[in-house]
Amino acid sequence: MKKIGILTSGGDCPGLNAAIRGVAKTAMLEYGMEVIGISSGFRGLIDKEYIPIDEKALSGILTMGGTILGTSREKPFKKDKSLFKDNDKPKTILKNYLELGLDCLVCIGGNGTLKTANLLSEFGLNVIGLPKTIDNDVWGTDLSFGFDSAVSICTDAIDRLHTTGNSHKRIMVIEVMGHNAGWIALYSGIAGGGDIILIPEIEYDIKKIAKNIKDRYSKGKTYSIVVVAEGVQHPDNKTAGRHIASLIEEYTGIETRETILGYIQRGGTPTPMDRVLATSFGGYAAELIAKGNYGQMVTLRDNVVISVPLSETAGRLKIITPDCHLVQRARNLGVCFGDK
Ligand code: F6P
Repeated sequence: MKKIGILTSGGDCPGLNAAIRGVAKTAMLEYGMEVIGISSGFRGLIDKEYIPIDEKALSGILTMGGTILGTSREKPFKKDKSLFKDNDKPKTILKNYLELGLDCLVCIGGNGTLKTANLLSEFGLNVIGLPKTIDNDVWGTDLSFGFDSAVSICTDAIDRLHTTGNSHKRIMVIEVMGHNAGWIALYSGIAGGGDIILIPEIEYDIKKIAKNIKDRYSKGKTYSIVVVAEGVQHPDNKTAGRHIASLIEEYTGIETRETILGYIQRGGTPTPMDRVLATSFGGYAAELIAKGNYGQMVTLRDNVVISVPLSETAGRLKIITPDCHLVQRARNLGVCFGDK
């Protein structure tokens, strides 16, 4: 009988519990494996903190946000320079992995987690990675779970800004997450009918943005919605949303307000799409373990769940490329990306 450990690491997102449930139920019911849940990401492996997982522990978690295992941003391979000594965390992890009698470690996380997962795989552990992140910036998969839920929350917020923006004839700037990628801004901007979408991948010129807004006014469109990804260029002492809002007010003379959605985008229940994606990623991970096909990341490619070697994806960021068809579709509708 195989014994596996599951951990969730990095920023949380909707769908983590659905993924834990997908891995654990398939592993236990289909393949008769024993499952434990490692607490607080890689920190739990260093401190040997874990919980046994049985069917009762998985009951009712499919729809829950957050993660029943807890998470942390612990990076065991990062050298702690202040200690002036070799980093022994990977060795501790290997020792605990062997003492716990694990046959495989399932690491559910974003880019940082998957990079660590690959290093642990090179270090001798059997590892499977599952891509989760609201940012959708994991290389090698068309989608990561958490993204659909975040886009849904942002779209709802943009819908609400339309009515208040229209009533006051204001420019409404909304800053959404996404780290160094603009996926959440692009998708929620299109879904919410944003007039201007600013993403880190496309350099903006404030004069072009101001001209677009003034042109809209001359056509009788007396309010505008500007969706800003948190990663667009801004000074350190301001958020991207606040910076863009003050520039727009300065260059247009039109009253402008900003909204920063923040962690609301990561909280709460996953959308049905994220529940399905996380469940099928989890189930597929258990299948890989049963076959002994380790060192893999589960991915979605052209609507089919497959896997790719962790070594191919680890550390690579998926950002929006200039030929992205959605950017082109949006431009054709008159959406301004700040560059034209
Ligand atoms: O990667 C997910 C994410 O929510 C990013 O969109 C955001 O930049 C970051 O995490 C926030 O990180 P933290 O949870 O450490 O504040």
